[in-house]
Amino acid sequence: MCSMSSSSTTMASAKKILVKHMKVIGGGLMGTSIAQVAVATDHTVVLVNQTEDILVKSRKGIEESLQKVAKKKFVENLKGADKFVTKTLSSILTRMDAASMVHSTDLVVEAIVENLQMTNELFKRLGKFAVEHTLFASNTSSLQVTSLANSTTRQDQFAGLHFFNPVPLMKLVEVIETPMTSQKTFGSLLDLSKALGKHPVASKDIPGFIMNHLLVPYLIEAVRLYERGDMSKEDVNTAMKLGAGYPMGPFECLDYVRLDTMKFILDGWHEMDSKNPLFQPSPSLNKLVAE
Ligand code: CAA
Repeated sequence: MCSMSSSSTTMASAKKILVKHMKVIGGGLMGTSIAQVAVATDHTVVLVNQTEDILVKSRKGIEESLQKVAKKKFVENLKGADKFVTKTLSSILTRMDAASMVHSTDLVVEAIVENLQMTNELFKRLGKFAVEHTLFASNTSSLQVTSLANSTTRQDQFAGLHFFNPVPLMKLVEVIETPMTSQKTFGSLLDLSKALGKHPVASKDIPGFIMNHLLVPYLIEAVRLYERGDMSKEDVNTAMKLGAGYPMGPFECLDYVRLDTMKFILDGWHEMDSKNPLFQPSPSLNKLVAE
């Protein structure tokens, strides 16, 4: 009995996909830094964006971040630091056509703009070109992972893989399973997160998963305090840094996450559940984003 159950465990884990080759779609801040972390942990990565200018900017961003990492890793060893930056940077391939790039990959990670229709179309298209074993994952913060999975014919090989800004420093990855995600896919993505040097947590497909489910209402409530004229932004920031030990106050964090991202998230949730008081639109957030 004992040996049977241990061998069946081994068989189950043997079936998991060992992700070594990744395609990251989207050359914005998140896609770029996911690619950086993957290359730095010995994965082969192709970073894809339709626009060449964006890819040039992505490389610049990776270089700057790698220089910060190198400064810590190679104290008083300028040559070693330079070598590390050049080698890591040269290992990241950049391409403009996603479809031609997914023929031979273990995993596609999507990190494009938070738009359901565009993301669905992307996955639908990639599904036609990807090989059978390829896993699909989305780094979405606000879209329902289940809806994205439904745009493909590989629902069991689809999950959320949610990273946090700044990706090279933040240890957390949320692995989001939909009702269709297979245990093989889920287990493979947990393993990958660890191989990327991260700490994975499991989440169901609820709005904001774990982190944003708690963080977004907190950040928006800080904006509401300010909108009501109850206190200054500076005092709110100071209170949360000195009183709660947070590294940033909520207004600093909002700027860091970017106001447009926050609006995408809040609008999406409000559309899903318009009666929820936590998801009500914020007039000052809308005004600032419009400006
Ligand atoms: N890459 C590599 N290294 C970086 C870096 C980057 N992008 N950004 C900062 N660093 C390094 C710096 O070089 C510095 O290194 P040294 O200690 O050697 O000097 C170190 O990190 C600390 O940086 P700073 O001195 O500039 O500033 P800090 O001490 O305030 O730390 C921070 C910066 C890590 C961002 C910290 O303020 C923090 O943890 N803030 C909270 C961030 C947060 O809440 N992230 C989650 C956002 S939500 C999200 O991402 C998900 C979503 O879906 C919206």
